[in-house]
Amino acid sequence: MEHLFTPYKIKSLELRNRVVMPPMCQYSVTNKDGIANDWHYTHYVSRAIGGASLIIIEMTDVDPDGRITDYDLGLWSDEHIPALARIIEACHKHGAKVGIQIAHAGRKAEDAAEPVAPSAIPFDENSKTPRALTIDEIEEMVEKFRRAVARAVKAGVDVIELHGAHGYLIHEFQSAYTNKRTDEYGQDLAKFGKEVIRAAKSEMPADMPLIMRISGKEYVDGGYGIKESIAFSREYKEAGVDMFHVSAGGEGQIAAHGRPGTHAAYQVPLAHEIKHQLDVPVIAVGRLDEPILANAVIGNEDADLVAVGRGMLRNPYWTLEAAAKLNKETTVPQQYQVSFPKVGK
Ligand SMILES: Cc1cc2nc3c(=O)[nH]c(=O)nc-3n(C[C@H](O)[C@H](O)[C@H](O)COP(=O)(O)O)c2cc1C
Repeated sequence: MEHLFTPYKIKSLELRNRVVMPPMCQYSVTNKDGIANDWHYTHYVSRAIGGASLIIIEMTDVDPDGRITDYDLGLWSDEHIPALARIIEACHKHGAKVGIQIAHAGRKAEDAAEPVAPSAIPFDENSKTPRALTIDEIEEMVEKFRRAVARAVKAGVDVIELHGAHGYLIHEFQSAYTNKRTDEYGQDLAKFGKEVIRAAKSEMPADMPLIMRISGKEYVDGGYGIKESIAFSREYKEAGVDMFHVSAGGEGQIAAHGRPGTHAAYQVPLAHEIKHQLDVPVIAVGRLDEPILANAVIGNEDADLVAVGRGMLRNPYWTLEAAAKLNKETTVPQQYQVSFPKVGK
């Protein structure tokens, strides 16, 4: 039976175990230039040393005005490539594969003078009212995603993740809650997402998998549920998505209200549905930081990979400790083997 430390392969991506570090914004860029610095290097490389098999670099934006804040990472210029390449190369040396989450914050771009969105509806009463993108601007936006993906590939990533969750631009298009357009992008809520997927694929090697992060459910009146997310994910799969990373909406995401469940594993049923309804690999995420629980998600075939976010912020060596707790074999860096005698090879 498969477990948390069984290797995994999808297309050319070969992982040493099933533990993923999900994207987590650090808001730590120093000069508002979108360039990764030593904080990012230490942050990601320590989780590679700590045994994670796939590290997905935080939300990295395709446009300066697509950042949540001016302290986010960017990929809108070639100048962003070298610092990311340095991080990726170092993670590789420690046995981890690296992805990056390509994104645009849409109406949630807090520091943009004028945020953009599918429709001119603010997030809440304290937010700026975004400008609705014109058709020409939407086409330009798809191009920005394409160019950012090309730069990520140049920097050496093993996989691309598109951010279609948490109320950012792609999610804003796919949700009837935020997309009130009457043109083709309103008639087909998945149209923008599909165009971004195809643009991303056009820059990726054929054997490199594309992950899409989605909110499987929105938890707001007028928002979508799992039935709708299965339907748009089916279209995304046909457009080229190889794996879904299943998160959800809730407070602070598509809307300021709408609290989701916060108990352990609360998003796993959504991942399970997407996996089995669409026959597609998925990453489950959300309060899975008890190793026995994360292991059960794999063993029960709810998901193919498990992402541990806050657990890994608390402990970069979460994966090594999980192997020790579960009594599974994993490769421990030689320097640390004295601390993990049972699991060290
Ligand atoms: C500090 C922080 C920053 C985050 N930034 C992102 C992000 O950049 N992109 C994203 O999709 N999710 C982001 N998330 C959500 C996480 O990827 C993850 O889905 C969430 O924390 C639930 O998993 P957990 O219970 O294991 O922490 C962030 C979460 C935290 C705690």
